[in-house]
Amino acid sequence: MKITVIGTGYVGLVSGTCLAEVGNDVLCLDLDAKKINTLNQGGIPIHEPGLEAMVKRNVEAGRLRFTTSIEESVAHGAIQFIAVGTPPDEDGSADLQYVVSAARNIGKYMTEYKVIVDKSTVPVGTADKVRAAIQEELDSRSVKLDFSVASNPEFLKEGAAVEDFMRPDRIVVGTDDDRATQAMRTLYAPFQRNHERVIVMDIKSAELTKYAANAMLATRISFMNELANLAEKMGADIEHVRQGIGSDPRIGYHFLYPGCGYGGSCFPKDVQALQRTAREYGSDLKILEAVESANDHQKTVLLDKITARLGKDLSGKHFAVWGLAFKPNTDDMREAPSRVLIEGLWQRGATVTAYDPVAMEETTRIYGDDPRLKLANNQMEALAGADALVIVTEWQVFRSPDFSAIKAALKSPAIFDGRNLYEPATVRSAGMEYFPIGRK
Ligand code: UDX
Repeated sequence: MKITVIGTGYVGLVSGTCLAEVGNDVLCLDLDAKKINTLNQGGIPIHEPGLEAMVKRNVEAGRLRFTTSIEESVAHGAIQFIAVGTPPDEDGSADLQYVVSAARNIGKYMTEYKVIVDKSTVPVGTADKVRAAIQEELDSRSVKLDFSVASNPEFLKEGAAVEDFMRPDRIVVGTDDDRATQAMRTLYAPFQRNHERVIVMDIKSAELTKYAANAMLATRISFMNELANLAEKMGADIEHVRQGIGSDPRIGYHFLYPGCGYGGSCFPKDVQALQRTAREYGSDLKILEAVESANDHQKTVLLDKITARLGKDLSGKHFAVWGLAFKPNTDDMREAPSRVLIEGLWQRGATVTAYDPVAMEETTRIYGDDPRLKLANNQMEALAGADALVIVTEWQVFRSPDFSAIKAALKSPAIFDGRNLYEPATVRSAGMEYFPIGRK
């Protein structure tokens, strides 16, 4: 099938590439010429396991192309995916200007029936705005053409996005006509594997499903974080509690890990946007307010533990920080707990040497050459001259370190662990203090 993907950000690039991988003829549009040049040469602007090789292979095979020409992109795809950004505006609602302008462009140039699919995470009701924008453009050209609008939210996890697209748990499709349903079923047939993965519903339900999924997951995390803080005060161990409740299949083991707060481009934004939408409809999602404020608090938990141990004034102190990305296998630092920690340490007069396996360039982009932050070439080098070690992201490479070497490098040997990577007894028997989340 001929597919156009508008927007070569995270979602657009992964979706376009995976659709090309199964044999479709995919053209991706972005207005950023530099980015398009890089992509046409098989290079990618983000870190995502497996993606670069897949882009390269499909570009070489001629199934995946990138363009800055709106006219060309509208003419190409029978299905046009809108996968542009929806950044939160000041009041927390999703800014739809890029979505609407993509829709307008389709209306301006289309000359035959098309299915226009919202892939971006957009508030309930956006499909109506997309439809109206396209219709307005057609009317202003006095052209009569049929088109369908569909919603097909993505559930990709950064760091596992290619795998998630190629082997989805479910593919949610919101449509209100058979022609679009048929086109979407044909498009996704190669991803069905052994059983039906496509769940067809009305458009508004599809739009809400995306927010409901992310808000539910964020709620689980905030709940576990609050329980962890309580367990710690009571002298219980959240790791035992996690296993005890996760074994109930109604609860399950996934997404039950307490930590130093959720971050990333989705949870914080989507939790806010859903609250905003609910208010617009006159309902108040009290749970989500609590989820958000619990998460804001959780991002300061590491700093609280540090000041409780070392005093509120940290001037002259130096900390090693392992992990900067909001989670492993990505270089994304949007809403990352590491930023709250580092900025909090600075405010109290401390300095930091940090290491992350892939987010070093991103850190430099964010903090420039701030003299309060040094970047180390590896995790052990980050420890030199530090008072204590703080772990913020659970990269695999941090899981089995040489504890005696850590102890030897630190001035007041202590590990503040925001991800519960170690058994407390192991760290303590190596002669270090250990401050995990929610453990005795
Ligand atoms: C999420 C959704 O999982 C995905 O379906 C959606 O399409 C986009 O948003 P992503 O933001 O890539 O994906 O990351 P995810 O793996 O879900 O983690 C989100 C945050 O929750 C991270 O900061 C992570 O550290 C935190 N988290 C996750 C926990 O603190 N504990 C857990 O048990 C799981």
